[in-house]
Amino acid sequence: MLRLENVHGSQLAPYLDALGTLRITVFRDFPYLYDGTLEYERNYLKTYQDSSDSLVVLAFHGHAVIGATTTLPMMHQGAEFQEAFVKTGYDLSKIFYFGESILLPQYRGRGVGRQFFQRREAHARSLGAEMVTFCAVERSSDHPLRPRGYQPLDDFWTAQGFKKQPELQATFTWKDVQEEDESPKTLTFWVKDLK
Ligand SMILES: CC(C)(COP(=O)(O)OP(=O)(O)OC[C@H]1O[C@@H](n2cnc3c(N)ncnc32)[C@H](O)[C@@H]1OP(=O)(O)O)[C@@H](O)C(=O)NCCC(=O)NCCS
Repeated sequence: MLRLENVHGSQLAPYLDALGTLRITVFRDFPYLYDGTLEYERNYLKTYQDSSDSLVVLAFHGHAVIGATTTLPMMHQGAEFQEAFVKTGYDLSKIFYFGESILLPQYRGRGVGRQFFQRREAHARSLGAEMVTFCAVERSSDHPLRPRGYQPLDDFWTAQGFKKQPELQATFTWKDVQEEDESPKTLTFWVKDLK
């Protein structure tokens, strides 16, 4: 039996390592190919812990965290996330940023991902957001680590009401599983207007 729980800001503290471990596990797969460390994770997740307006939805199977999703005001996110929106003239104070949606593979396809989007949108609306956005990594269609039969999530995101905005991009740096060192990756934002 799966159970979802909403936590905010500092309530995330007891779950930091479980969430970091989950991110490392799920994002090791294509398309993220992230070769993560718990040290990087604790630093990354601090942004959510420090924001009293953040929401992290944790999915539990028994006591184990098997999935999670995150959101927080764009104003509380780093400059590298804000930059594309500032340049394009958006009002950052009206935007909520959706972080990851992650679920261990054996729990997928049961509607949890859809609930992740619904809970985050309800939270963003309750705090006056007029737009929600997330970004996804760009990988070439002939990437050597792309699994045969890989199904991109684009249709799922479109079904949740998002539109890809090719003019809104960001560059983040991490180490891919097959890389010696960190390298920059291009991500494109998807946007949903709540007005
Ligand atoms: C994103 C993720 C959490 C979705 O979770 P999920 O619980 O499997 O999704 P759901 O069961 O709610 O799926 C909802 C709908 O989308 C469809 N769907 C799910 N994955 C899909 C995909 N890859 N392509 C197209 N449709 C998809 C489902 O069939 C379902 O359709 P229905 O409503 O008609 O039945 C999960 O796929 C995941 O953890 N992926 C790896 C991490 C990742 O890439 N996250 C996104 C970036 S942070």
